[in-house]
Amino acid sequence: MSDLTIARAVHILSVVIWMGGVSFVTIVLIPILRRSSFQQDRLTIFNVVENRFASIARIMVLLAGISGFYMVHKLDAWSRFSQLQFFWMHAMVFVWLLFFVALFVIEPFILKNHGRMVKDGHSIMNLRKTQIVHSIILVLSLTTLVISVFGAHGFFYS
Ligand code: HEM
Repeated sequence: MSDLTIARAVHILSVVIWMGGVSFVTIVLIPILRRSSFQQDRLTIFNVVENRFASIARIMVLLAGISGFYMVHKLDAWSRFSQLQFFWMHAMVFVWLLFFVALFVIEPFILKNHGRMVKDGHSIMNLRKTQIVHSIILVLSLTTLVISVFGAHGFFYS
């Protein structure tokens, strides 16, 4: 098995865990919390789950980035970034950068605690906003994932 194949497997494994977590938070956790009757615990549950996932996501984002750039190097594919038909490569790097900044800059240094967005008395309203932001990011990420599979298998060029 070549190192390129291993890098591809690491890339997909990290993307699966990372995007799976984003999907879970967006389409399972937040809707359940918004509908739940335990008003007081809503903030705590959201914090605990999101903070735990953020630690896992940080590792996955690093792994996806390292394996991704390793593949670019091995495939000698740097020139793709100046070619329009490889827009899916730009999309991957864009989504990666978005999460990198969110997880390594915004969350630890600016938000500190994700739950601060979900303040007492405004928890339902703010969870609605949180759900909207998460939904936009999820759609962007999953679209990128699908076009990347198409792109990697030659769909956008012959
Ligand atoms: C620094 C960021 C990233 C870099 C440098 C990168 C790089 C790469 C490279 C070089 C390939 C192989 C392309 C080929 O075989 O021609 C690839 C495949 C792929 N990447 Fe990324 N990637 C990054 C982030 C992401 C993200 C954020 C996602 C998910 C949203 C993603 C999903 C995929 C998928 C689904 C494939 C196709 C695998 C296959 O079907 O063989 N990548 N990536």
